[in-house]
Formats: sequence, structure tokens, C-alpha cells
Amino acid sequence: MSERGEHEVPKVVTDLPGPKAREIIDKDERFLATVTKASPLAVERAQGELVWDVDGNLFLDFASGVSVINIGHCHPKVVRAVQDQAAKVIHFAGTDFYYDVQSRLVERLARVAPGRGERKVFLSNSGTESVEAAIKVSRWSSGRKQFIAFIGAFHGRTQGALSLTCSKRVQRARYFPLVPGVTHIPYAYCYRCPYHLEYPSCGIWCAKILEEVYLDALLPPEEVAAMFFEPVQGEGGYIVPPREFIPELAKICRAHGILTVDDEVQAGMGRTGRMWAVEHFGVDPDIVCMAKSLGSGMPIAATVFRKELDWKQSGAHSSTYGGNCLACSGALATLDVIEEEGVVQQAAKKGEVMRERSEEIKARFENVGDVRGLGMMRALEFVEDRRSKEPAVKLRNDIVSRAFHKGLVLLGCGRSGIRLIPPLTIEERNLERGMDILEESISDAVRDRA
Ligand SMILES: Cc1ncc(COP(=O)(O)O)c(C=O)c1O
Repeated sequence: MSERGEHEVPKVVTDLPGPKAREIIDKDERFLATVTKASPLAVERAQGELVWDVDGNLFLDFASGVSVINIGHCHPKVVRAVQDQAAKVIHFAGTDFYYDVQSRLVERLARVAPGRGERKVFLSNSGTESVEAAIKVSRWSSGRKQFIAFIGAFHGRTQGALSLTCSKRVQRARYFPLVPGVTHIPYAYCYRCPYHLEYPSCGIWCAKILEEVYLDALLPPEEVAAMFFEPVQGEGGYIVPPREFIPELAKICRAHGILTVDDEVQAGMGRTGRMWAVEHFGVDPDIVCMAKSLGSGMPIAATVFRKELDWKQSGAHSSTYGGNCLACSGALATLDVIEEEGVVQQAAKKGEVMRERSEEIKARFENVGDVRGLGMMRALEFVEDRRSKEPAVKLRNDIVSRAFHKGLVLLGCGRSGIRLIPPLTIEERNLERGMDILEESISDAVRDRA
């Protein structure tokens, strides 16, 4: 079944990009409307943590399709489930009719999602849509119009979700006016504390300020429908808040009848060494958004919420493709694999290896200002020097590029971070190999800039 043991990993055999990749890139650049490409990698096939490009180069994947491939590329169980389903029925509009894979999936998600009591599940196709549904169901059920979100947050790019997103200026520029009613407050980014305080002597002021300043002077709490949060900020820089931050915020929200919306789109599905990142903080959210690794690459997302929040009027929200037959079968197979292969436990264990290796790297290089993460959701933040903490963006980009030329696929995050998100099922020697290549790439980049 596995090809992993048969290969020298990674193995770059052409210039990058190679001739076939170049052709694809040229066509892509001419016709595809996109402005976010990270590396000139034209993939042909992938399995587990291995990726072959069209020129026969073999890469090691530490990006997982932007956190989508937690159980590895093309897991045979997912492939089989989707192929079998495709031979039966591909689409039948689960909004208007019934089928088994959809009803089985929502039953299962209602059971595994974080939170208590009976739940309802709305299915859609992408993270941003799962957030749109959370915006709409929280407004609909509460009759309130305002929202709280965090500086550094990423919740998606459709106009409603974008109104909550506050990660990079470029994502919002020229799209105003956004959906009105969102107030952003600073997140608990201790490495660059917005209040210039130190944990724990700060007393978690970054959470308490919600009650003591915002809800007191700026936002009438009875007009706030929901607070959207990422338990670990993703695109914003893989920022792990202190353990009191989210419980304190949740307590304030509860006291004022403000719903808590937990965005698990990037951090969920075992990535942090728990099934849901919010489990690290002991909070039961009212609404949960999930997508990315839910379908192992089949486009599917879910918004799971307390049953009593459900829309009480037919037609108040819907999606043609949401809960598509193929996507549901991919998600069910993914959940099976996570349970059967102890994937969450694997992430907790291998996450420790990643933590130790990251700490060693930090000790070796002055330009690594901070290393952080939970489980296998880890990042390094690069700085010009540790005193000024000036983001070292060029250095970070150089490291990503050097690693790519050695066969390691990486992605940035935040202003000058590199995220490390290999599939949770990666073989341990490939995990070590990837960390070695990362370290070599940092060493080369630091040496050559000196
Ligand atoms: C936390 C979080 N929420 C929402 C989204 C949006 O997901 P999508 O790109 O599938 O719309 C992302 C995407 O990176 C994300 O990281």
C-alpha cells in the first residue's frame, strides 16, 4: 500500500521549476486569477507526506495543502470511499432531498464536535462558508447585530467572513465597506504583547479588557450576537494564547449572553494533538466552524451549533453543494481513519519531536525570535535581531525558497513566520528529515546574508 519506504526522500533531480512545471506555470500565470502562489511546484501525484512533481522530483510535504491533508495525501480509505460513492450518485442536493452519507455525517459531527447538549449541523463547501453560516445563525437566533473578533484573525475572504478577518491589510484593502458591526480587539500575542505587558504578571489584561473597556464604553453587550475566535491563530502567525485567555473571554461572553464561535478550520481535526484545539482550553463553544482536513481534500465544511440556535424558518439559509455526496463520503472516511489509526495520539507524540527540534533551532540561530505551537501545528518567527524583534521577512522568504530547492515544501504565516504542518501520519524519519532540511536551509540563509 505505501510507497514511502521505497524512496530516498526528498529527491530533486531537475532545476526547479523543471521543464514540464515551467509549461504549467506559464499557462497558469496567463489565465489563472490568483495572487497567492508560494512555490513553483507543479504536482503530479501525492501519497502520505510525499509529493511528486511533473518532472519526477520528489518532495516532502510540510504544508499539507494548507492544513487540509492531516491524514496524508490520497489515503486509500478516502480514495476508495469517494470512488465507490462516485459510481453510485455524485450529487443530489442534500438541501432538498435525503441521502445516507449526509445524514450519517451530520449525526457523527454532532457527536464529535466540541461543546455540550444536542447539536445541529449546517454543511457547506469551504471554511469561509462555515463562518458565513455562523454569522447568519448567530444573528438570526439572537436578534443581535454586532460581533467581536480579534486582530490577527483569519476567518475567510467572502465579504461577511472578511469583515471578521484582520490578518493582513492586503486582504481587506479596496473591499470596503465590509459588513458593518464588527469590533476587533487585540489577541494574546505574548511575543509582541500589544499592551507591552508580561505574562503572567499581566493578569490576562488582554481578555479582561473586553469587559472593562469594550463592553463598558464601546459596545452595548446586549447588541453583540457573537465573539469569533481561533483557539490558535493560524494565518496570523500560529499564535498560542496563554491558557487563561479563552476561558476568561468565554466567561465574559456567557455573562452577557454573547455566543462564542470557535473557528477550528485550520487548528481542528487533530492538528494540535487534540481533536479540537479548543479542548486545550476547557471551553465549550456555542458554535464551531470546521473545514480543511474534514474532507481530506474533498471540499466540505460544517457549522455545528446548539440545537436551540437553529433557524426556525425554512429557506433562511442554504447551499446547493453543501453536503455533496462525494464530499460527505470523503469526510466520513476521514473520521474513520482518524479513529482507527489513532491520528490524534500520533499528533500529540510527533508534536513533541517537533517542539524539541524547534527549540534546538531557536537556541542555534539568533534570527529565530520565537518558536511556538501545539501538537503538530508549529511555527518559527524570524527577526532581524532579538532585541528589536523587527520581522525578518526577506530572510524568511529565502529560507522557504532554499528548503523548496532541497525538496521540502513549506508555507509562511504571520509577517515573518514559517509554519510547520506536515501530515499527522508522517513517518517519524521523514519528520526528522524535514526538520533537518529546515535547519540546513536556515543555516545557509543566515550564513549567506552575513
Ligand atoms: C481559521 C480559518 N478560518 C477560515 C478559513 C477560510 O477557509 P477557506 O479558505 O476554506 O474559505 C481559513 C483558511 O485558511 C482559516 O485558517
